[in-house]
Amino acid sequence: MGIFDIHAVRKDFPILEQEVYGFPLAYLDNAASSQKPIQVIEAMNDYYRQDNANVHRGVHRLSQRATDAYEGARSKVRDFIHAKSDKEIVFVRGATEAINLIAHSFVRPMLNAGDEILISHMEHHANIVPWQMLCDEIGAKLIVIPMTDRGELDLSTFDDLLTSKTKIMAIGEVSNALGTINPVKMMTRKAHEKGIPVLIDGAQAVPHMPADVQDIDCDFYVFSGHKMFAPTGIGVLYGKEALLEEMAPWQGGGDMILSVSFEKTQYNVLPYKFEAGTPNIAGTIGLGAAIDYMNSVGIEALAKYEQDLLVYATNKLTAMDGIRIIGTAENKASVLSFMIDGVHPHDVGTIFDQQGVAIRAGHHCAQPVMQFYGIPATARASFAFYNTMEEVDALVDAIEKVQELFA
Ligand code: ALA
Repeated sequence: MGIFDIHAVRKDFPILEQEVYGFPLAYLDNAASSQKPIQVIEAMNDYYRQDNANVHRGVHRLSQRATDAYEGARSKVRDFIHAKSDKEIVFVRGATEAINLIAHSFVRPMLNAGDEILISHMEHHANIVPWQMLCDEIGAKLIVIPMTDRGELDLSTFDDLLTSKTKIMAIGEVSNALGTINPVKMMTRKAHEKGIPVLIDGAQAVPHMPADVQDIDCDFYVFSGHKMFAPTGIGVLYGKEALLEEMAPWQGGGDMILSVSFEKTQYNVLPYKFEAGTPNIAGTIGLGAAIDYMNSVGIEALAKYEQDLLVYATNKLTAMDGIRIIGTAENKASVLSFMIDGVHPHDVGTIFDQQGVAIRAGHHCAQPVMQFYGIPATARASFAFYNTMEEVDALVDAIEKVQELFA
């Protein structure tokens, strides 16, 4: 596409053309789930119309085509996050399943009572609860990196939190509630200096900026397709090959075996060892198409455009009376969480909806962040590269409407 062309981009997302309550839809809930371009929808349609068959199992033409498309998507993911090998790319349901897989197959076998798992105060529940369940089961401790009022990680005690007992550090690259971009490369380096493995939750990062697992040097990286213009129910676990090789499978079943007898099962090679059962073939093909689409727009270009949107929106809201922005970190992506004085965020969300403005109002699956600020919820606008400055203006109009109604 060359130079970023918002008009061309929007044509690819027919869902955005609709009106809601007589207003043009302004879809600003991308951190919850993103819209899908026709290229993704068509890729999945084509699979069901022409190639539908199971993968890895059939000698017939359709199964071969399905397998080629499925494995082709794996190679696209490999390049998208700059992994070394297809063996390091495991397809899962989403970031949540990937974290649970690592908790179960990597951390659990080496976790003893008194050991520690290090996360941060701004994690999504998906990067809290699986670790908490594991800690409860084994008698280990969940240690939390604190945060500051601006919504940045407070790293003043970080070195001390990395101890000989820390069995893994699991950190979100971008906070879904605050938009903060965390310094994951530096944090990974420090953890590795003490021999601690690192998992990065990239669910809110991959839709907005280039991803490079070799540059971060993390051991595991997880993300979901539906936040990056691909369907729901498909996601990725990246793991360094040597670590995945050592890990036991999470689920047993078809396709994850080389041979089975009642005496013994020999597991399949990577990455199939972790892909038991018939996978989400259409979703995987959709994910591959979403990657192609992002590449055709240009990831650097869309990242820059989104930064412009975020700056424009932040300046607008900062200039308004009675608005408190929650999360004012220096490095942010895509997310603008805020409170309107005297109005509950749920009321904000409902009134916005009547103006055609779709945002999320709630705790954003990050209740500890809400507890930190002593608030029940926030209103959250979250942007994608198909949003426009006019949609930010619609957001501002909707805020003014709320203020008028509650005056
Ligand atoms: N994690 C999703 C969000 O931030 C659901 O809204």
